[in-house]
Amino acid sequence: MQVDVILGLQWGDEGKGKIVDFLADKYDIIARFQGGPNAGHTLYIDGVKHVLHTIPSGIFRDGKINYIGNGVVIDPVTLLKEIENLEKQGIPVKERLVISKRANLILPTHKILDAASESSKGTSKIGSTLKGIGPTYMDKTGRNGLRFGDIQEEDFIVKYELLKAKHLQLLQIYNFDYELKEMEDAWFEAVEKLKDFKQVESVYFINEALKKGKRILAEGAQGSMLDIDFGTYPFVTSSNTISAAVCTGLGISPKHIGEVIGITKAYCTRVGGGPFPSELDDEVGEKLRKEGSEFGATTGRPRRCGWIDLPALNYACLINGVTKLIITKADILNSFEEFGVTTHYKYDNKETKDLPYDMVNKKIVPTNIFFKSWGDIPASGPISAELKAYVDYLEKYLNTKVAMVSNGPGREQLIDLTEGKLLA
Ligand code: GDP
Ligand code: IMO
Ligand code: MG
Repeated sequence: MQVDVILGLQWGDEGKGKIVDFLADKYDIIARFQGGPNAGHTLYIDGVKHVLHTIPSGIFRDGKINYIGNGVVIDPVTLLKEIENLEKQGIPVKERLVISKRANLILPTHKILDAASESSKGTSKIGSTLKGIGPTYMDKTGRNGLRFGDIQEEDFIVKYELLKAKHLQLLQIYNFDYELKEMEDAWFEAVEKLKDFKQVESVYFINEALKKGKRILAEGAQGSMLDIDFGTYPFVTSSNTISAAVCTGLGISPKHIGEVIGITKAYCTRVGGGPFPSELDDEVGEKLRKEGSEFGATTGRPRRCGWIDLPALNYACLINGVTKLIITKADILNSFEEFGVTTHYKYDNKETKDLPYDMVNKKIVPTNIFFKSWGDIPASGPISAELKAYVDYLEKYLNTKVAMVSNGPGREQLIDLTEGKLLA
């Protein structure tokens, strides 16, 4: 059996959660493979809004396993809060959730270090969600991390205290006030409660599932332009967000990767600092933010808005091996008579489709062309000539088929351009 992948092609918040929730019906296991509670995936089910941070977006589907893979970093407090929220709504989370013993833990001191590091950077701060992501991945690669399986071990407290002591020493280099005790109490309380949830030896769990013919959907967090290696460094997150990370984040071989479904908004947003060549820092951008309700699902911060950026999307398709595209928020562009599409970048006295390795110190000027908006999108039947012209242009530019267009936040608000063949 194969593992299909859904991931974001921009700077996050492309609508991955909605699409995963919709497609989850066709799978047995929905698996997160990287990132942590910096993610905020929004689902609307029967008109009710839900935001997930660590739990995969298949959790609302009956009979599905939702798996938090080894590549994810877990904050016990946020995870428990999420679980309790879902349980209150009658979702049997214990039956549906499985956690890798190899997933690294976010300690309270990781969050404090994140905040201390950001505040020391002043105006050049990354704009982190302050969930402790960077410091936790640093400890993982520095070979100091604590892992989810450790919570059952006798020496857990010893390991915790050792790492905490290292963090407290590190914190001395920052002039930063913090209050640890309350955070620590909540953390240990959450750890205790999480011991009741199913933990697995990840490699055997996922590979045995594949052998048994289980269908697996891998759910990405963040977006390709926030990837630690290929994003707009250093304004990125601390994990690999691209399709390659599915293998390392779940423990499967590349030969099992099937469809790579790339999600892009019909325009573009970014939250936090860093390069954004097609950004509209004017009333047009403001209108996009207002019409698209572009405020962060995790932090509530206003998202920066701009036109869709095809050089960046082309780059993202290349690194991920995208096999199908899904365009979200097509409905939002209807508040404009016409809208822009960035086709090229101008920098170093040339016009190109290529991204420079350093986008921070280069002055990039976007070349835009304009399209007419499409009016109301019918729930079924042929799409309008205007929407078709836009879809055709993207398909040609990116050399990849558009499988679906999303025209509202609801689970069923999707136009299937493949006539049901996307996952056939
Ligand atoms: P994710 O992080 O990629 O899952 O995306 P977020 O949940 O952070 O942000 C996407 C936002 O757009 C959420 O509020 C979704 O409910 C909303 N959304 C997703 N698809 C559509 C769509 O096609 N139209 C509209 N209007 N909203 C959408
Ligand atoms: P989803 O999964 C949008 C951004 C932050 C910041 C940078 C680093 O909902 O698409 P971090 O907390 O990782 O140290 O922040 O990355 N960022 C996201 N932006 N969507 C996300 O996740 C994000 N996760 C992190 O705003 O600029
Ligand atoms: Mg989000």
